[in-house]
Amino acid sequence: MPTFPEPVRAMIVLGTRPEAIKLAPVARAMAGDPLFEPVVVNTGQHREMLEQMLHLLEVKAVADLAVMRERQDLAGLTGRLVDGLGRTIAESRPDLVVVQGDTTTAMCGALAAGYHRIPVAHVEAGLRTGDLGNPFPEEINRQLIGRISRWHFAPTERSAGHLRGEGVPDERIEVTGNTVIDNLLWMLSRGQGAPAFRTGLRRILVTLHRRESQGAEMTAMARSLRRLADRGDCELLLPLHKSPAVRESLLPVLDGHDRVTIVEPLGYADFAATLAACDLVLTDSGGVQEEAPSLGKPVLVLRATTERPEAVEAGAAKLIGTDAAVLYDEATRLLDDHDLYAGMANAVNPFGDGRAAERIIASLARDHGALPAGALT
Ligand code: UD1
Ligand code: UDP
Repeated sequence: MPTFPEPVRAMIVLGTRPEAIKLAPVARAMAGDPLFEPVVVNTGQHREMLEQMLHLLEVKAVADLAVMRERQDLAGLTGRLVDGLGRTIAESRPDLVVVQGDTTTAMCGALAAGYHRIPVAHVEAGLRTGDLGNPFPEEINRQLIGRISRWHFAPTERSAGHLRGEGVPDERIEVTGNTVIDNLLWMLSRGQGAPAFRTGLRRILVTLHRRESQGAEMTAMARSLRRLADRGDCELLLPLHKSPAVRESLLPVLDGHDRVTIVEPLGYADFAATLAACDLVLTDSGGVQEEAPSLGKPVLVLRATTERPEAVEAGAAKLIGTDAAVLYDEATRLLDDHDLYAGMANAVNPFGDGRAAERIIASLARDHGALPAGALT
């Protein structure tokens, strides 16, 4: 009788909206491959924003660690995550743990796995700004995960270069593209969503949530957004992050304007359809910066630094900082200068071809068997 190898038991750890979106293609690919037994653990770092995602993305989690607290602080969140994930890993004994990106869930997933001597696969590895305070705490998290991981799945050549520069051996790095593109194409091909704009005016999609901008800086940006709405020819749509700190920064300025549409976080099908229908994107989001260029939407990045300079170099995005006056001027220029707009809208997406998950699981299937028992790296 032939003997079949045991499937690789891969624990996929996620807890926030972008992790669900970017790990869903990996979870679906593993679920369809007899070489893998995926075990999805939801830490519950986000509650409502994640619940609405998993079903739609066809991902079934075996556990919800329910760690979220209102206005959670990073140290407390980290404690609950390492404790909860440590216990889950000890009970489940996976062969490897998959984490994505730079959230506190991802960092704690990697750390808890490392403490249990389970090797870690990092999806979206090698992004760097080099500034530990920006974005905060994501740059800290991603650098720590880079030290712990066995497999580094870099979305671009540039991110692979950062890892090589930090001494990660070449054979542990694979350039795969970003799984966010896999998921966006998958979602749009289903044709399920509807755009959330209300008017036939020019459509500006805005998302803001970063910790380092919350408070006075984000409120000043909100005033510039209101001035843009005052022009009369555009509708600004803001799907508002659930964070109370974000809502307190934006709502007092933006609520009640006829051409500002404020909605709860959109489900992914509707968000993808909204992105496809918009004319311009203003965002501080990592994922939205990656998605917009693949749909030909110019992006103004409302951040001091970006770990995704590929979109800027491709001409699809412009990093404009967080100064409110600059925000107004740059958005106005794009709305009024047809050639400038067309140049950005025609740029090429640098983040992959939609086959990142396929490459990731092929690499794990190939390498996993060669790893000595108990070896972390
Ligand atoms: C987190 C990640 C950030 C990522 C972002 C994506 C960390 C430290 N930050 O930031 O890297 O870009 O998610 O959105 O990992 N809340 C709810 N319901 C929800 C989600 C959040 O009420 O569904 C509220 C809670 O009060 C929570 C607060 O939002 O305390 C902030 O959530 P948290 O996960 O700590 O930080 P984010 O700003 O969402
Ligand atoms: N997104 C969504 N609904 C929304 C806003 C965003 O589904 O109302 C998706 C978006 O398509 C992207 C991801 O959420 O894939 C980005 O999440 P977020 O901006 O919260 O986090 P970041 O990418 O900055 O870590």
